[in-house]
Amino acid sequence: MRKNIVAGNWKMNTTLQEGVELANEINTLLEGKSKNCEVVICVPFTHLTSVNAVIEPSIIGLGAENCSEHESGAYTGEVSASMVKSTGATHVILGHSERRQYFGENNEQLLAKTKQALANGLTPIFCVGEVLEERENGTYNDVVRSQVEALFSLSADDFAKIIIAYEPVWAIGTGKTATAEQAQDMHANIRHTIEEKYGKELADNTSILYGGSCKPGNAPELFAKPDVDGGLIGGAALKADSFIGIIEAFN
Ligand code: 13P
Repeated sequence: MRKNIVAGNWKMNTTLQEGVELANEINTLLEGKSKNCEVVICVPFTHLTSVNAVIEPSIIGLGAENCSEHESGAYTGEVSASMVKSTGATHVILGHSERRQYFGENNEQLLAKTKQALANGLTPIFCVGEVLEERENGTYNDVVRSQVEALFSLSADDFAKIIIAYEPVWAIGTGKTATAEQAQDMHANIRHTIEEKYGKELADNTSILYGGSCKPGNAPELFAKPDVDGGLIGGAALKADSFIGIIEAFN
């Protein structure tokens, strides 16, 4: 069966020293604690190696926030999936709405990035989600469906390795969460889209996380929904106590 997962996305926050301290604090608080979900922290590239040194892999998984769609070569400033992997990371966020919006990442590039991640043994956390206008004009299901379908040239074996994160853009960093019902409806749609292509078993085994102003206060209601398998957490992942509070929503 699919896993429950709480993943942090630190975005462009914390210096290296602050990041190491935060990771250390989260690891210490989780040590010896029983939890009913997997925990992953996705951190800036510069932090990966140092954070890896202070976390226990059996307690916290480590991820990057992006990787290149290219294998290697003359792409100044880019970071490849094999470089990410070589730090000890296990996961990589791909297609976050901030990457789509501010860096123009499109479906074709995101498929190439996903292939690079998979080829290097990284688990992609693949983000999808509609903007406010699409929510309001009623096209949100079609928008998200087409974002998921961008991966449908992958084999079933490869698709089975992916975690999906549904993040309605209007809920990110705004304090405005999707209601648990809105999240459940979209997660069920996403699972149905996956089922149509890859079959029920694979769809049932795919973890689909919710992201967007998720906090200790609203996580229990969101995670109680049958198709919400955890969260991708931004702001609340930057404080150990609120991140742990969200993890505890699974207890
Ligand atoms: P917030 O939790 O800050 O709304 O961010 C969500 C997010 O974008 C996680 O990837």
